[in-house]
Amino acid sequence: MRNLTEANLTDAVLARVEGCKDPRTKQILTSVIRHVHAVVREVELTPGEWLEAIRFLTSTGQKCDENRQEFILLSDTLGVTMLVDAIANRRSAGGTESSVLGPFYVEGAPPRETGVLKPVSYPIPTDGPVGKFLGVQNRHPFRPAHTHFIVSAPGFRRVVTELFAEGDRYLDSDPVFGVKSSLVVDFKPDGKDSRDRTHHLVEYDFVLEPE
Ligand SMILES: [Fe+2]
Repeated sequence: MRNLTEANLTDAVLARVEGCKDPRTKQILTSVIRHVHAVVREVELTPGEWLEAIRFLTSTGQKCDENRQEFILLSDTLGVTMLVDAIANRRSAGGTESSVLGPFYVEGAPPRETGVLKPVSYPIPTDGPVGKFLGVQNRHPFRPAHTHFIVSAPGFRRVVTELFAEGDRYLDSDPVFGVKSSLVVDFKPDGKDSRDRTHHLVEYDFVLEPE
């Protein structure tokens, strides 16, 4: 296998995957190689541009630590997270729709008191490579106000989802593509507490589908 050219290089690489023992891994690797090569051919990527891409991915990895997951953020802003979610959560009619868990989920987070948390819109972190990535596309980083939910019950499919606040200015430009109309709800004013803070009430029925 020598003298490989633009015309036969992809096939030569694909031939090396043939020895892969796990069929699913082989399927995924074959597809990744095909598509990455197709991108390079389509845009006729230059060596400088490929190095720039490698630097971008390197800095994305270097930005990650136990509290910050820049690759999830990249996946979210590329719409890949929501696409994987859509495929994994194809539902028959009736079940509550799913949405992104997001990069900030912490297992065992402390319970919150009633009355702390009408959600507000907030920017995803822009101090790393994904912030620059949004910048070059002239995209804003603000997620519409939302609250995350994970709802489960024995015998039913768990749903990971979010409820979004009706009227939020970013509902139609969520940087992570997570908004679905069925998940947009009214946060209705529901009286005031002893410190004159307005409380809000959301009524929403989560519907789980059988396993
Ligand atoms: Fe969030």
